Amino acid sequence: MIHQGKVRIFSLLILSHYAMKFCIGGDVITASEYIRDSGSIISSGGLYRLGFFSPNGTTNRYVGIWHNKIPAYNVFWVANREKPVLDSSGVMTISDDGNLVIMNGKKDVLWSSNVYTSGANTKAQLSDTGNLILFKQSSNMTDDKEMVWESFRNMSDAFMAKMKLSTNVRTKEKQVLTSWKSPSDPSIGSFSISLEPLNIPEIFLWNSTTLYWRSGPWNGKVFIGVPQMESVYLDGFSLVDDKEGYVYVTYNFAEVSYLSYFFVRSNGELLQPFWDEKYKHWRIDWSTKESACNVYGKCGPFGFCDDKKSPICSCLRGFEPKKVEEWRRGNWSSGCTQRSLLQCDRIKNDSTKAGKMDGFVRLENVKVPNYAIWSSTLEDQCREQCLSNCSCAAYAYDAGVGCMYWRGDLIDVLKFSYGGTTLYVRVAHTELGGKRDLRAIIATAVVVATFLFSIGTFFAWKKSKKQGGKDREQFSEVSSENVLGENLSKVNLQDLVLYKLEELAAATSNFSDTNKLGEGGFGAVYRGILLNGKEIAVKRLSRASGQGLQEFINEMVVISKIRSNDNNWIGEDDSTLLMEFVEAYYTFTVTLDCV
Ligand SMILES: *[C@@H]1O[C@H](CO)[C@@H](O)[C@H](O)[C@H]1NC(C)=O
Ligand SMILES: *[C@@H]1O[C@H](CO)[C@@H](O)[C@H](O)[C@H]1NC(C)=O
Ligand SMILES: *[C@@H]1O[C@H](CO)[C@@H](O)[C@H](O)[C@H]1NC(C)=O
Ligand SMILES: *[C@@H]1O[C@H](CO)[C@@H](O)[C@H](O)[C@H]1NC(C)=O
Ligand SMILES: *[C@@H]1O[C@H](CO)[C@@H](O)[C@H](O)[C@H]1NC(C)=O
Ligand SMILES: *[C@@H]1O[C@H](CO)[C@@H](O)[C@H](O)[C@H]1NC(C)=O
Ligand SMILES: *[C@@H]1O[C@H](CO)[C@@H](O)[C@H](O)[C@H]1NC(C)=O
Repeated sequence: MIHQGKVRIFSLLILSHYAMKFCIGGDVITASEYIRDSGSIISSGGLYRLGFFSPNGTTNRYVGIWHNKIPAYNVFWVANREKPVLDSSGVMTISDDGNLVIMNGKKDVLWSSNVYTSGANTKAQLSDTGNLILFKQSSNMTDDKEMVWESFRNMSDAFMAKMKLSTNVRTKEKQVLTSWKSPSDPSIGSFSISLEPLNIPEIFLWNSTTLYWRSGPWNGKVFIGVPQMESVYLDGFSLVDDKEGYVYVTYNFAEVSYLSYFFVRSNGELLQPFWDEKYKHWRIDWSTKESACNVYGKCGPFGFCDDKKSPICSCLRGFEPKKVEEWRRGNWSSGCTQRSLLQCDRIKNDSTKAGKMDGFVRLENVKVPNYAIWSSTLEDQCREQCLSNCSCAAYAYDAGVGCMYWRGDLIDVLKFSYGGTTLYVRVAHTELGGKRDLRAIIATAVVVATFLFSIGTFFAWKKSKKQGGKDREQFSEVSSENVLGENLSKVNLQDLVLYKLEELAAATSNFSDTNKLGEGGFGAVYRGILLNGKEIAVKRLSRASGQGLQEFINEMVVISKIRSNDNNWIGEDDSTLLMEFVEAYYTFTVTLDCV
């Protein structure tokens, strides 16, 4: 894939070199300032270019938009997807009816923005967000410009920052991103992406009409089926309900120089390339092809997918393969079925045989099943509510979403290496026994770990006693439960630079609004300067964000990994540091010092 990208980049480079001679220079297209094949326009800041191109493997000509200052990863918007110009006679201009059009040498219109412009004087302009906008110019000497069409509303395969992927909940009309048919054919392929305003909104990737991948429910900050989102520092996703029927998802990077976007390949891979300014190349931040488990419903109903295991599919605890032979052969599509009757079914069968109450199997760090039902129930009643309703098959609680539960088949449950949600699956009480041994082992491990931790805490406490240790003691209590995950060992503490709250406050003028770069996943991000002159970005987790210590540590793990692998992320050079901050940060620092 990377390979193909490179080839395409190469051809684009040749093309843009070529284009220089014909380039009309500006960022607008009007009836008189049109572009011919090999010509192009460039957005005012120089970031994007619109012009003619041929994908690898074809001589067909298309008009598209791609990155200009840096080598393009791909052409992220194509106008005449279905109707290429077959030779180099193509022209993009404004037609008599005010629409933006692409014509061939015979003046056949191959593509048109196709909007009603009331015959007004229009012009198209390529903005520095990569959006091609058609304006109606007012005749009354003012600077008023009315937008009549924009490429951001007629998406190809890419979801760019500031685009709005919307769905109308009343008319069910959806905006979709659509893949190319093949790497050499930009016409509409079989994969598409849409925002589904289900009970809890989420993003679906379709293969024609079959669900192929899902993002998991939106929790107000991130899609909970994409754990990487919680570690993306400046991602600023938001979901907006405009109260007129439209719900849309959009995102914006706080740092304008951060060049990254999402797009869906013709083979169904959804990925996020990101421009690494230091090494001058595109890196893939994230891709759905990272795990075989990402294919929707890989292990069938009540199946459980874990790509670290072989085979990757197993049945949820308390369940067994529906068709044993088929399952053994590696055909998991029929999934699994409940091994023992649940209490409700036992009562239905014979009301005297109710027996013991059902219980729940706890699954940590998972992607929750599809089609969650939202309930306004509070956290402590979420379990009881599920238990008291015969049709409830599982429940989960997310601080951002609240109580979720599921009925019927549980589909698309998979294991993440970090993040995700804790899911509770209902099983008969008989399925809950027999785990004593494992529990004993865990208990021992926890005792040992707690002991080690206590030593650390003791020193931490001693060290910080002078400054009033009340909050700290409280904090260590909380952390002894959370911190002692497998994660701690993954953090290369030497690689992390730890700062005191006071230092971060001083660096950011006390987290002043003027230092604010924007809102990230879980809180605001501030620009700051340390005493030694280093420029930093500080993410301040809001108390209300629902991100706990565990997530914070996960994020540290990710950062420490990136730093040790690569010595570089986001920034132009090593002087750009991204630091994390929680309100109990200082205590946390001391504790880590001593472990
Ligand atoms: C480009 O074409 C060559 C030759 O047909 C092929 O080997 C290569 O994989 C193609 N790359 C892309 C981007 O399709
Ligand atoms: C100028 O025209 C625009 C629309 O083309 C209109 O909204 C605006 O009110 C007009 N302004 C004046 C001063 O007439
Ligand atoms: C987008 O463009 C395609 C043709 O490329 C057209 O069929 C479709 O109706 C357009 N969609 C919108 C929303 O303008
Ligand atoms: C998409 O669906 C088609 C059939 O509709 C199938 O042939 C193809 O293999 C699917 N693609 C992937 C990547 O699963
Ligand atoms: C897997 O099992 C399903 C259901 O029994 C069947 O329809 C399908 O053809 C099987 N697939 C393969 C690859 O054998
Ligand atoms: C209870 O149901 C199971 C299957 O659902 C059946 O095999 C069994 O015979 C039933 N028992 C009684 C007492 O009805
Ligand atoms: C049980 O859950 C179903 C499905 O959500 C719901 O329709 C029903 O009202 C619930 N029953 C009770 C007793 O809460």
